[in-house]
Amino acid sequence: MAKHKLGIIVGSNRRESINRKLAQALAKLGSDAFEASFIQIDDLPLYNQDNEQPVPEKVARFKAEVEASDALLFVTPEHSRSIPAVLKNAIDWGARPWGKTSWPGKAAAIIGTSAGAISTAVAQQHLRAVLGSGAGLHVMGGEAYIAFKPDLIDAQGNVTDDTVRTFLKSFIDQFAAFAGRFVPARTAAAA
Ligand SMILES: Cc1cc2nc3c(=O)[nH]c(=O)nc-3n(C[C@H](O)[C@H](O)[C@H](O)COP(=O)(O)O)c2cc1C
Repeated sequence: MAKHKLGIIVGSNRRESINRKLAQALAKLGSDAFEASFIQIDDLPLYNQDNEQPVPEKVARFKAEVEASDALLFVTPEHSRSIPAVLKNAIDWGARPWGKTSWPGKAAAIIGTSAGAISTAVAQQHLRAVLGSGAGLHVMGGEAYIAFKPDLIDAQGNVTDDTVRTFLKSFIDQFAAFAGRFVPARTAAAA
């Protein structure tokens, strides 16, 4: 069966991002169902409605990558009890110009990690509202809050804790099944 094209969006522009490490681990765990690629957001200009016609080159690239994805996985930190500005900026560009949104109808899943006790829970709730009600994606239900420990993910992207690995594998498998309900007919036809 053909693999779904998965676009992974990491809500962090930090070099040593723990959320990017989590995303790499998920890409590996989901490699039987998804062909994953990372969609860069940290090079996008700050959104400005004055610069929409035409959109800047990097925004055009970003929108094309989103549109080429069958499903989108958002892996995000929490900043000040909400989503990081770099991620909201990308979501806004994806939604514009008026009539040319890149988001609607795609399957999405949300996950995130921080060292904090309630690990990204508030940011994920905000993101769920932005993606679902605002941008028109189909956001998978459930909750996935990962408390990060220094050696949780090794340099090869393997999850070292059995319980966390089992949870993440189940999460990405559920997402593959969920995404299968929304992939375009062209993918289903190729399967
Ligand atoms: C501006 C800022 C605000 C933050 N606010 C929160 C927060 O509200 N909740 C939380 O759990 N961690 C918060 N943190 C800590 C992040 O969880 C931590 O920096 C984490 O490493 C970010 O993920 P990343 O490594 O993928 O960038 C904040 C960090 C920054 C820089």
